[in-house]
Amino acid sequence: MASVFTSRTLLLPFFILFPALFSATDGVFSEQLPVTITRRQMEKTTRLHFYFHDIVEGKSPTALQIIRPHNKSINGFGQTFVADDPLTEGPELTSKLVGRAQGLYSMASQHEPSLLMMMNFAFLEGIYNGSVLSILARNTIFNIREMPVVGGTGVFRFARGYALAKTVKMDRSGNAVVEYNVTVVHF
Ligand SMILES: *[C@@H]1O[C@H](CO)[C@@H](O)[C@H](O)[C@H]1NC(C)=O
Ligand SMILES: *[C@@H]1O[C@H](CO)[C@@H](O)[C@H](O)[C@H]1NC(C)=O
Ligand SMILES: *[C@@H]1O[C@H](CO)[C@@H](O)[C@H](O)[C@H]1NC(C)=O
Repeated sequence: MASVFTSRTLLLPFFILFPALFSATDGVFSEQLPVTITRRQMEKTTRLHFYFHDIVEGKSPTALQIIRPHNKSINGFGQTFVADDPLTEGPELTSKLVGRAQGLYSMASQHEPSLLMMMNFAFLEGIYNGSVLSILARNTIFNIREMPVVGGTGVFRFARGYALAKTVKMDRSGNAVVEYNVTVVHF
């Protein structure tokens, strides 16, 4: 009896003092992590250089037209493609595959050759394997163009930055090779 009594008297104040330990798993709406170093100190800048191959014609196209232009369309306005375009280290398609550009692009101008790009660049190479950069951009295909990088995953979590692109080769069918320099800040 004596031993039961003592263990109760010991436990009771324990429950009163630390109720939170025993009500445990209610949902937690938000939580602020202690800040030990500033965001700026954690930021990294990464530059990537690669070539984007958009193959619309031939035996194995990497981009397919999924929306035809409306019959009132001017300059192909509205045409939309879905792409799974290889990204390579060098300008040749046979050079090392470093990723794939997956997404959609549409002819979004009635006045000039300009695309709306909705693309994820999914990388395969080294520490970037499995990480993604997302681009949502206007792409004026005959100029050197700048496109915003709006986010990322994996190594590129919290990414923001920009891509500079230049078409280095385009044939009559519209098959194109585009050089990309991407600069992103991320954690
Ligand atoms: C354009 O499309 C509309 C609706 O589909 C059709 O009625 C019309 O005949 C078409 N016009 C031409 C020039 O093809
Ligand atoms: C990238 O990751 C995938 C899945 O984890 C793996 O199968 C592949 O071999 C990796 N590629 C490279 C180049 O490391
Ligand atoms: C990418 O960067 C390289 C090296 O600085 C430069 O030679 C090339 O012209 C750049 N290309 C684009 C599209 O910015």
